Amino acid sequence: MGAPPVRHYLQFADFKTEEYHYLLERAALIKKKFKTFEKHHPLVDRTLAMIFEKASTRTRVSFEAGMYQLGGSVVHLTTGDSQLGRAEPIEDSAKVISRMTDIVMIRTYEQTKLEAFAANSRVPVINGLTNEFHPCQILADIFTYIEHRGPITGKTVAWVGDGNNMANTWLQAAALLGFHLRVSTPSGYEVNEKTAARPDSMGVGSYQTYSKPMDACRGADLVTTDVWTSMGYEAENEVRRKAFAAWCVNREMMAVAAPDALFMHCLPAHRGEEVEAEVIDGPQSVVWDEAENRMHVQKALMEYLLLGKL
Ligand code: CP
Ligand code: NVA
Repeated sequence: MGAPPVRHYLQFADFKTEEYHYLLERAALIKKKFKTFEKHHPLVDRTLAMIFEKASTRTRVSFEAGMYQLGGSVVHLTTGDSQLGRAEPIEDSAKVISRMTDIVMIRTYEQTKLEAFAANSRVPVINGLTNEFHPCQILADIFTYIEHRGPITGKTVAWVGDGNNMANTWLQAAALLGFHLRVSTPSGYEVNEKTAARPDSMGVGSYQTYSKPMDACRGADLVTTDVWTSMGYEAENEVRRKAFAAWCVNREMMAVAAPDALFMHCLPAHRGEEVEAEVIDGPQSVVWDEAENRMHVQKALMEYLLLGKL
C-alpha cells in the first residue's frame, strides 16, 4: 500500500526498452500538437525546479519553455544565486526543494551529487547533464534519427572524439535500443566502460572501439561528436586541443559513411575543432532539429515521470 516509489531519470539505463518506445512515440505526438498549436496542458499547477551548477542554453530553454507549454511553471536556480553555492548540503537542498516543487532537473558535476539529491527528493529528479551522463540529449538524438531515417535498431552510430558524458550515454543507449556503436577517441580519452556499463548485456546492440576515426565512420548511418573540452575540464584545454587534432569530423569522414548518413552534435559546437564548418553547416547535418527536439522529448519525459503512461 501507499504511494508508488518515485521514479528518477539519472541515466539512460534507468528506463527499459519498452519505456523508450513509449516515450519516443509520445514525444512525436507532443511535437505534432506543438506544431499545430493544439493546447496540451497535463501539468497545470505543477512546478519544475531547474538547478544549474554549469552553464546552459539549450537545456534551460527547452525545459523552461516545455514546462510552460505543458501548463506548469518553473523555478530557476544556479549555484551563484542559491545556498548551493554557500555549501548547503545537497541532501538538505533536496529535502527542501522537493517539498515545494513537483519535479526537479539538475545540471551538475559528479553523478554522485545528482544521486545524493535524488535519494533525498520526494519528487522525480532528471539529469540535465553530469560529468558522466547526458541522457536527455541522447533521447533527443535518437528521436531525431528516427524522425529522419526511421528505426535506429540495427543501425550503426559512429562517435568521434572525447569518451565523455555523451559517449557514455550513447553506450547505454546502444544496449537498450539495439544499435551498433563505434567509438573512436584519442588514447587516454576512452569511454569509461565501467561507468557507462554493460558490454556484457548489450542485447542486440554492439560496441566496438577504433583507433582511427575514419574506420569508425566507414559505412556508419550516423556520425556524431562533441566538444573536445567539456564543462569542468577547462584546465585541460590546451593539452586536449593537441590530443584531439585528428578527431575533427570532416568531409572525408562523412564521405566514407553511408550515403544517407546524418551528422549530429549536441551543441555548442566549435567549427574547425571537433567538426568542420562544411559538415555541421552541410546537408547531412541535423543539429538544429536535434536541439529543438530536446524540448519535445523532455515534455514527454516530464509528463511520464509525473503522470505515467497516458
Ligand atoms: N546540448 C546542451 O545540453 O546544450 P546546453 O549546454 O546549451 O544546455
Ligand atoms: N560534453 C559537453 C556537453 C555540453 C552540452 C559538456 O559536458 O560540456
